[in-house]
Amino acid sequence: MVYTLTTPLYYVNDRAHLGSAYTTLACDAIARHRRLIGDSVLFITGCDEHGQKIQRTAAAMGLTPKEHCDVVSEGYRDLWRRWRISNDRFIRTTDPRHRRIVEQFFLRVQASGDVVEGRQQGWYCVACEEFKDDPHESQDPECPIHRRPLEWRDELNLFFRLSRHQGAIEALIQREGFIQPAGRRREVENFVARGLRDFSISRIDLPWGIPVPGHAGHTFYVWFDALLGYLTALLEPDDEATLERVLERGWPASLHVIGKDILRFHAVYWPAMLLSAGLPLPERVFGHGFLTREGQKMGKSLGNVLDPEVLLERCGRDAVRWYLLRDIPFGEDGDFQQQRFSDLVNNDLANTIGNLLNRTSSMARRWFADAVPPAGVARSADHPLARAAALAATSAEAAMERLDFRSAAEATLQLAIDANGFLNQQAPWAAIKRSGSADQVAADLYAVLESARIVASLLAPLLPELSERMLAQLNRPGPLRWPQHLAWGLLEPGGPLPQSEPVMARLELGEPL
Ligand code: MSP
Repeated sequence: MVYTLTTPLYYVNDRAHLGSAYTTLACDAIARHRRLIGDSVLFITGCDEHGQKIQRTAAAMGLTPKEHCDVVSEGYRDLWRRWRISNDRFIRTTDPRHRRIVEQFFLRVQASGDVVEGRQQGWYCVACEEFKDDPHESQDPECPIHRRPLEWRDELNLFFRLSRHQGAIEALIQREGFIQPAGRRREVENFVARGLRDFSISRIDLPWGIPVPGHAGHTFYVWFDALLGYLTALLEPDDEATLERVLERGWPASLHVIGKDILRFHAVYWPAMLLSAGLPLPERVFGHGFLTREGQKMGKSLGNVLDPEVLLERCGRDAVRWYLLRDIPFGEDGDFQQQRFSDLVNNDLANTIGNLLNRTSSMARRWFADAVPPAGVARSADHPLARAAALAATSAEAAMERLDFRSAAEATLQLAIDANGFLNQQAPWAAIKRSGSADQVAADLYAVLESARIVASLLAPLLPELSERMLAQLNRPGPLRWPQHLAWGLLEPGGPLPQSEPVMARLELGEPL
């Protein structure tokens, strides 16, 4: 079974910002977790490149849409590479193969009687690429997300008969676990309960889009085309672009991760489109919250946008991942606070986790010939740290399973806190001076080193690089597997311990980011 996981396909109207980085980092943690537990993962990300918003942005820059898309999507691709995102695919909706998938999909939808001509009147937000529910008689309505005026539209378009799928969608959104977190279901339920209305899937006079077969002058509405990017992305490089092939490559998706802003598209429109085309539905849709900065919405006009390039350069991957995944409950809104960011990174990673390993491996090297000390009584599953490690592993595994990164991080950190407490209580630096204490000191250091190994193993999905540096320090290079490598007592006594180096630098942020 393939575990297919997707980020949204990001618009190329602008460079990536912290919001897109947040979703992508969270998906990376999920992908890494699934690989650790042995799943075969297809992690998809990419760019959404058609539509009016992109056409206008390109025109404003004096570029053709294609030139503009090439530059921005390459920027995304490069940024994810530098963040070491482990995506398996990067789809661009301007890929010629995508056009063929969209055409085939449309023909299926048409064949099932779900395409009709109609007149679309309403208020449109170009930034959302979405008709809003504002009443026709509204005066100067604004988009609540973008705070920009909506534009009045009155067009003859092709419509998708969403209304025919009312019952099926009602049943789907009631399915346990389809919409997550559960708290977001209500909003979708209310929307569906008002009665699903057909929506237009084509535009006229919008050249920057995929032409609708058999309907000259129409291009596909950007969302109709973009959602299908999840299908095209599944194709292997040499695959023929057919829906049949897509189905062999990992459809349905196991999980779509998105922000709460686009939940309706993923939990209502998309499943209805798939039903109409006779394709299986995704297993779940997770709508996470939005990030603000020091209590304020991030926006260009406020000049407070957090740039993932700057974060990468000034703070590094481990620090940013830790803060976003450990501090913000996944699913809820979160606020980026610089002071808290550096405090958490320094306390948790540099002090509690980094120093634990550093000082313990230095003592072990000094007193036990640069090697892991004999385990003695620390081999026992009843050792207090063995029990703490078992508890941490069980909690972190369960937390990752439910995408609760915060609890996984806390459980991991708790093990490091317990190991520090044990070390301070046993005080091997004092005990070593007493004769006859070598066995006890050896066992104590073994227990702490073994705890540090398990901390490192638990960190792997969240902070893969810190995890690797710690495991290298313990001479335990990968590949790592859960749950096998979470078992107590795998560190080999007598195994060489390399020279210890700090595994995590402190974050010293003078200037605001
Ligand atoms: N192109 C569509 C998605 C099509 S999917 C087939 C789109 N693109 S987007 O570039 O606007 O990306 C939206 C996503 O970016 C959100 O759903 C969310 O995942 C992420 N975020 C954008 N701003 C954000 C915050 N301020 N905070 C957290 N995530 C946010 O919509």
